[in-house]
Amino acid sequence: MINSVHVPLRFYFILLYFRIVIGSMQTRDFDVVVIGSGIAGMTTALHAELESSEKLSIALISKIHAMRSHSVAAEGGISGVLYPVENKDSEHLHAYDTIKGSDYLADQDAVEILVKNAPKEIKFFEHLGVPWNRNRDGHINERAFGGMSVNRTAFAADKTGFFMMRALYDELTSHKGIEIFHEHMVTSLIVEKGKFLGLHMIDIATGESTFIRSGACVIATGGFSRIYDFTTTSYSSTGDGIALAYRAGLPLKDIEFVQFHPTALVPSGILITEAARGEGAYLINAEGKRFMETYAKSKMELAPRDIVSRAIVTEIEKGRGFSDRLSGLGYVHLDLRHLDQKLIDERLPMIRDISRKMLGLDPATEPLPVRPAAHFTMGGIHTNTAGNIMLGAGSGHAEGLWAVGECACVSVHGSNRLGSNSLSQCSVWGRIVGIAVARHVAHNKAGKSKIAEDKAWQEERRIEEMLSGKGSEDPYALYTELQNTMSKHLYVYRNTKGMARARKDLSRIRSRFADIYIKDKRRTYNANLRDALEIGSMVELGLLVAECALRRRESRGAHAVREYPERDDKHWLKHTIIQKGIAGCRISYMPVSITKWKPQPRVY
Ligand code: FUM
Repeated sequence: MINSVHVPLRFYFILLYFRIVIGSMQTRDFDVVVIGSGIAGMTTALHAELESSEKLSIALISKIHAMRSHSVAAEGGISGVLYPVENKDSEHLHAYDTIKGSDYLADQDAVEILVKNAPKEIKFFEHLGVPWNRNRDGHINERAFGGMSVNRTAFAADKTGFFMMRALYDELTSHKGIEIFHEHMVTSLIVEKGKFLGLHMIDIATGESTFIRSGACVIATGGFSRIYDFTTTSYSSTGDGIALAYRAGLPLKDIEFVQFHPTALVPSGILITEAARGEGAYLINAEGKRFMETYAKSKMELAPRDIVSRAIVTEIEKGRGFSDRLSGLGYVHLDLRHLDQKLIDERLPMIRDISRKMLGLDPATEPLPVRPAAHFTMGGIHTNTAGNIMLGAGSGHAEGLWAVGECACVSVHGSNRLGSNSLSQCSVWGRIVGIAVARHVAHNKAGKSKIAEDKAWQEERRIEEMLSGKGSEDPYALYTELQNTMSKHLYVYRNTKGMARARKDLSRIRSRFADIYIKDKRRTYNANLRDALEIGSMVELGLLVAECALRRRESRGAHAVREYPERDDKHWLKHTIIQKGIAGCRISYMPVSITKWKPQPRVY
């Protein structure tokens, strides 16, 4: 009894002392806050602005300069059925390809929304100024991509993401209602009884903290492929938003499914777009054989990514690969030499440029060394088809909280995404959520909340303590251990012993993270603090991947387990939900939405 009275009192005085003596934190009010400025975040902010006829105040927060968000690195294109008659295509076929590609884990109602709306979004970006490649007759060109039955991927050379981002950014900066916070890092979401009340963020340049008070938040922060050392993603893909949601008690879905892109350049991991294979490039082993005929006789190099990645790893394991002298990494060859140079220059100029700059190799005359790299987070924050963040495996959703893009699991990709479906996902749900959030705030204005303000101050204190702490663990060393563990035990092939080992090691790494020290003690441009916050998120997420992966006793899509080589629909045709519990995490399962496409054996 004595304790229950005194502890809160003591806590109150510490907080008061902290506010008066140490802390400084400004408060800002916004109708809507969007965290993340890639294609998903910017599209959401733009549609919220348009839907409200520019009447809302919208904060768009990016931990880097908004234009450096990882979407700029998207290369090959965006999927959508633009010419059903000419291409013998249909929404039904796009949905079927996506669902089969997902190894039947995608929610089919969500996939139907994706394929129905994707063409409209490609045209929307055309109006924003994206220079889509065109045929001689002026039609938007569509290229082949893995797992797609016909050509349905629109593209702007091999810089599609860059052009989409450029167009969005130009448009956004002409809207006065949107304030962009470049280089601001959100450290905590304030959620009380399932309702969003605000967030705490740090200005990385000045170190100043802000409590943003708002009733509506959209998380659009991308994936966490940086938990692996060999990855196609930029340094910013650290899963912050997914970790923020988890720490706020919100559920994550299917987090065990990480996509490995088959063709990352060795040793850097830079993406060599699947469009290279779409345009006709071959995969060749050290015996000079096009080995994909052993693994996917009809689709060959254009089988879905999980299958091609497994094929490459198998070839390397069987001694039919090459070995990189510098890194020791095994690889196979991606061969473009038989392609017309004019075609390479028109449709794949960036990968030609990258290969020359990184390795001194010209793909027009020499094969490229490639191997699978972590590329995409197929699980993420559990949302419904409207983009609302759910509260658990049941039907209720949080108030004032949405997630969009790679950080969200809606789920259209299931256990294996088809290439070029992610840009459509970002733009389709960017519009859906942008409109929904604008309508929500028109009727729900956020008021002042003492609880929210106190929680923001608590967070400020946590950051101060982290900064001044005198722990003994180096966060960068822990990060290396995390990456090594993920790469060793949770790569393209997994096994039970390895996953169990990973879980144990990651759990230790997480405990040790509680005792880190941050070398730079200043608040201004403290890259050590920013890195430590990111590493903290990644350590948490790596452990969750291992927890969920270990439990799934089957092979499905990107989760290939040696002891359970088959898909097991009887027991595992279900989504994994993981949520923070009072002591550790809680795992539950929920059914997959099946509308028209019954699960079948997956042959290519
Ligand atoms: O290979 C690529 O261009 C990647 C595309 C994607 O991940 O959607």
